[in-house]
Amino acid sequence: MKKAQKITEARGKLGVMLVGMGAVSTTTIAGVLAVRKGLAKPFGSLTQMGTIRLGKRTEGRSPRIKDFVPLASLDDIVFGGWDIFEDDSYEAAKTAGVLDAALLDQIKPELQQIRPWPAVFDRRYVKRLDGPNVKKGANKRELAEQLREDIRRFKAANGLERLVMVWCGSTEIYLTESPAHASVAAFEKALEANDDSIPSSMLYAYAAIKEGIPYANAAPNLSADVPALLQLAQETGSPLAGKDLKTGQTLMKTMVAPGLKARLLGVEGWYSTNILGNRDGEVLDDPESFKTKEESKKSVLDYIFQPDLYPDLYQKLCHVVRINYYPPRGDNKEGWDNIDIFGWLGYPMQLKINFLCRDSILAAPIVLDTALFLDLAGRSGMAGIQEWLSFYFKSPMHAAGLYPEHDLFIQLMKLKNTLRYLRGEDLITHLGLEYYD
Ligand SMILES: NC(=O)c1ccc[n+]([C@@H]2O[C@H](COP(=O)([O-])OP(=O)(O)OC[C@H]3O[C@@H](n4cnc5c(N)ncnc54)[C@H](O)[C@@H]3O)[C@@H](O)[C@H]2O)c1
Repeated sequence: MKKAQKITEARGKLGVMLVGMGAVSTTTIAGVLAVRKGLAKPFGSLTQMGTIRLGKRTEGRSPRIKDFVPLASLDDIVFGGWDIFEDDSYEAAKTAGVLDAALLDQIKPELQQIRPWPAVFDRRYVKRLDGPNVKKGANKRELAEQLREDIRRFKAANGLERLVMVWCGSTEIYLTESPAHASVAAFEKALEANDDSIPSSMLYAYAAIKEGIPYANAAPNLSADVPALLQLAQETGSPLAGKDLKTGQTLMKTMVAPGLKARLLGVEGWYSTNILGNRDGEVLDDPESFKTKEESKKSVLDYIFQPDLYPDLYQKLCHVVRINYYPPRGDNKEGWDNIDIFGWLGYPMQLKINFLCRDSILAAPIVLDTALFLDLAGRSGMAGIQEWLSFYFKSPMHAAGLYPEHDLFIQLMKLKNTLRYLRGEDLITHLGLEYYD
């Protein structure tokens, strides 16, 4: 056994602030309330249902993750958040149309109490949306200050011990790093100057990090993933995770692609298309928001296949991703993948995947797990990018100069080894020679 890291116990209430109270957020909130009341089970959540093997295979030690590391209990979570629409969580959940009215009605009073605070929003960054519940301020610095006040008010009003923030807002237009993002000083100057390169999501990220609060990004926009905010997170001790929840089609991709590569099967083409009818689909129908999503979805295969190491197998891969807004489907997305592969002597084969999934049902347990693990990271003194949470994201944040790890199985091993490390348990390498001595 190695030395365990110092972790503060999860005492008192944890405030989980969600930016954007749409389909993903309300499915997360309603789910936690329903599980708390014993109305349903938290399927899909590693923190609630997962186990972790400790020591040798012969020892039979596999505790639940939540019994192994000190995580906040679902009973101690208090939800709050922002949206550009005034609907409370009950109304918003009904609009999202993910969960049945029969379930929502059993938790209606609790959902109705969660009313979104006025948002920081600018249509330039999300063109397909507009709403009335929006803050006014002379410049972006002032707006960020208003967000910090919301955070402090929420904490005091509910007697919260700790906080976490997760961006579950709409996907913003495609932006790349600019000089305003280069350092904390440049960023703060740009806030004052209302610089266009700072979208709304960055103001939320800045407010959270400035307050020393863990921050995660469920969407693909840059948000906290710029040098200025990474630097600030180191200074204030905020753990960070993102970007873009790995659900649906990309989840399948990061399961199937490592398998094909493991058996050295070549891939000539991977065509992915989706139909999606929720508000997220509507926002992504705008080419500028879609571009942000497309970049996030496309990078996965390049990293998993490593065409530079395996040019014969993957260098000519043609990877196409499409999302089509199709209202009749609502949140029930349908994805089709056609994969053109080749094997021994170059003989071609095809693989088809047709995934009829529920987007927010796949996303909600990730939001919960990310919030609880980030809170654990904060109590363990871990600041900045939490690469061990890559498991949950399409475009995992990673240190400059490192390539991101996309293989779901390596990501899970990394996550569990991080928990073992925190508790001073031996890391599991799967070498296992000792069983045959
Ligand atoms: N559902 C999934 O499986 C999944 C997977 C990966 C990523 N995501 C991303 O998560 C995000 C949320 O998805 P969703 O399905 O809940 O979408 P949604 O449209 O139902 O909800 C987004 C909410 O954010 C609000 N919003 C937008 N800008 C805001 C701002 N500046 N401040 C406050 N609120 C704001 C909108 O009004 C809306 O209510 C999207 O960016 C989506 O791309 C979802």
